[in-house]
Amino acid sequence: MEEMNENDERNVRELLIGSGYSDKAITYYLDKKNMGSLPDADQVSELTGVCGDTMKIYMKVEEGKIKDAKIQVLGCPGAIASAMVAMDLIKGKTLDEAKRLQDGDIFRVLEQIPDQKQHCIRLTNKTLQKAIEEYENGNGHKGE
Ligand code: FES
Repeated sequence: MEEMNENDERNVRELLIGSGYSDKAITYYLDKKNMGSLPDADQVSELTGVCGDTMKIYMKVEEGKIKDAKIQVLGCPGAIASAMVAMDLIKGKTLDEAKRLQDGDIFRVLEQIPDQKQHCIRLTNKTLQKAIEEYENGNGHKGE
């Protein structure tokens, strides 16, 4: 994908602020710092929401702790921003701590996203919980 120039970025920011995203949420969306895959992941799990958006989580787990996590998101800005936050929140946490992550924890970091985008947070957390469950049950698959 081509990098956005400053003008494009300003336009995107304005658009998203107009639709109810906080500056912080927009920065998460634009930076996409946890977007991608981990070639040596211990767990790879994916989930598609009713809206059709899809997330795929890659987790590196060591001694019950999430050492690293990345996520691929085919979805809206709300989905991307939520997913970036969630990866930040679970890195370095134990699986048990990550299991207790609430939608509200993600929302608090985002500060504000449009009401109709709350389900993007839910999809993020559901994908994460599915990945943890599959890891613990030995389902799903590993990265190559
Ligand atoms: Fe589907 Fe945002 S519209 S996750």
